[in-house]
Parts: sequence; structure tokens; C-alpha cells
Amino acid sequence: MLVTRDCYIEAREAVARYSSSVDVTVDPKDVLLCSGCSGALDLCITALANPGQNILVPRPGFSIYRTLAEGLGIKVKSYNLKPERGWMVDLDHLEEQCDEDTAAIIINNPSNPCGSVFNREHLFDILEIARRNFLPIIADEIYEHMVFPGKEFHSLGSLSLEVPVLSCSGLTKRFLIPGWRMGWIIIHDRNGVFDQEVRKGLQRLSQRIIGSNTLVQGALPAILKNTPQEFYYNTLCILQNNALVAFEMLKNIEGLRPVMPEGAMYIMVGINMEHFPEFSSELHFLEQMVTEESVFCLPGQCFDYPGYMRLVLSVPEEQLREACHRIANYCARHFTINSISSYLVQRKHSQP
Ligand SMILES: Cc1ncc(COP(=O)(O)O)c(C=O)c1O
Repeated sequence: MLVTRDCYIEAREAVARYSSSVDVTVDPKDVLLCSGCSGALDLCITALANPGQNILVPRPGFSIYRTLAEGLGIKVKSYNLKPERGWMVDLDHLEEQCDEDTAAIIINNPSNPCGSVFNREHLFDILEIARRNFLPIIADEIYEHMVFPGKEFHSLGSLSLEVPVLSCSGLTKRFLIPGWRMGWIIIHDRNGVFDQEVRKGLQRLSQRIIGSNTLVQGALPAILKNTPQEFYYNTLCILQNNALVAFEMLKNIEGLRPVMPEGAMYIMVGINMEHFPEFSSELHFLEQMVTEESVFCLPGQCFDYPGYMRLVLSVPEEQLREACHRIANYCARHFTINSISSYLVQRKHSQP
């Protein structure tokens, strides 16, 4: 194996081949290996933003963006996703958030916690906003290709003509090996914007502490090349089946509003808190659910989105069904028709 100061060349070449497609050819010199996708995000945020500047992050969104940025004195501004439109980005809101202190936009596709997958047109709309505002994109694509049959994943790097993109991914999700700590950044530069400072900055930062695991680097070419297609396919079938099971069971529960995902491994469920007036928040609702039913779901607050809960779909189907039964029992015990909703129900029924 040929080794450079930061990693095995063969490992970088393998990631470059794996990430190339008919739309984009990735050069091994544009690949940096990191300790998981979190390590990749850390380097990108640190390289692109200075203390006092801000980055734009999705709401609801994965909490690590805020944790990493705020730890460096970088501010975070959120742009909204729309649950009623399959969690697409509220484009007007995204554009409103851009200001002269904005250093980058983070786009997470497919999404944790929403399980949403953006289509090509939507990605072009996002790129256009970034272009108009002269902003680079950090694309968190750790769930790349984890889309249910019938949907297609498009990487931002493969679509961008003018906007420079730092794409972050790794082995954690698609290969189901989070503990192996292998992630990477792909530098999709455009018009030489990243050529000087950003590229050097990323390289230096990646050598500040010892990065990705060298044993896994050695295995990476074989992992990326030899993993059979049926492994990916079977994983996706299990996730899609579980998504359908959870959606069908939860949609019939009074007081809950699941949003059907299209990929990744999560489903977001709205909780109509006005029907559970004994609880002060969804956190309170979920704490009590653990106590009564031993079912734990992450509260929307963890994703800057109160009033929702996130279920993980990577458990065996039987366990998921049992969890949904228990959630149904719990909701039935605590559901209350409050005075406003009972008035609306009565009014609806009394109308001709
Ligand atoms: C959207 C998203 N990005 C990044 C990560 C971090 O991945 P890793 O474990 O490779 O650091 C996760 C893990 O849950 C995630 O959901």
C-alpha cells in the first residue's frame, strides 16, 4: 500500500471510484479520509466559517451541526423544511436566512431525522439560491443511496455547475458499521474557489490529529468494490417495509401524524399536543411513555423541532410492531378531546 502523510492512496482512489458517476468524475486528490462523517463535517465547518460568521442548517435537522459550529464560536441560523411537502426546503425561508456573515449552507439529503429524499429539480433550486448568494454548500450525504425503491439519490456535487460543494459521507449508514469510524470529504470545487485556502485548510486540519482508522483504510477498496448489491437491496427492503408498517400503524392513532419517509432509517411523527394537555411538551409526553411503556423515541426538540418524535426503523419488524402497539395504548390512555377540538368536531358533524 502506498501511504501519504494522511492516508493510503489506494483508499482515496477507492472512494473516488465509488463516488464517481456518469455525471461526475471524482479525482483521488479531491478525497480526504476522516474519522466518520462527523469528523468530515467538523473539518468542513472549521475550514469554511470563522468565529462570528454563521452557517445555515435545516430545521428539523441533525444536532451535530450546531454542536460543532457553536463550539467554534460560529453562529447557526436555521432554515425550515416543510412537513406537508415531504420535508422539502422552504426555499424562500432559506434565501431570507442568507446574509453577509453567512459562510456556508448545510444540506442534509437524505435527511436525518425526516427520511426525506430531494429530487433533482429541488436540488437545482437549492443550488441556484447558493449561487445567487455566493455561498458554498456542505452536503451531508451520509445516507447517499439509502433511498427506497422507486426513488433516486442525486448528489449535489454531481449536479453543481457553479457552486462549490464539500460532500461528506462514509461507511456508517449504508454499510451499517458506525463503529469503524470511516468517513470522507469530497471536494467538488468550481471555478477554483476552494483551490487555495480551503483545500489547504482541510488538508492541514485533517492532519491535526490522527484521523481515520488505518486498518479500515486498508479494507476500504474491498468494502466499496466487493459488497454485493443484494446487501444494499436487502437493507433497503427491510427499512422500507418497516417504514410502511410504522406509518400504517401510527396513522390510525388519534393524536399522531406520521410523515412517510422515502429513505434513510427514520420516521418523523407529529404529536397533536393539544390532545395531550396533561403534558407540557413532547419531551414530557415521551418521558412518560418510557416510564409507562418502555418505548423510547427521540423528542423533536433534539432536532430543533418541538411537537414531533423520531422513530428509528432499523429494528426487527416484530419489535417495531410491538413498539407501535405500545405507543397506541399509551396515546389511547392519554388522548383528550379538548374543548376547542370537540367544538370543531361537533360543528363539522352539524354541518349539512
Ligand atoms: C445526518 C447525519 N450526519 C452525520 C452523522 C454522523 O455519522 P458518523 O457516525 O459517520 O460520524 C449521522 C449519524 O447519525 C447523521 O445522521
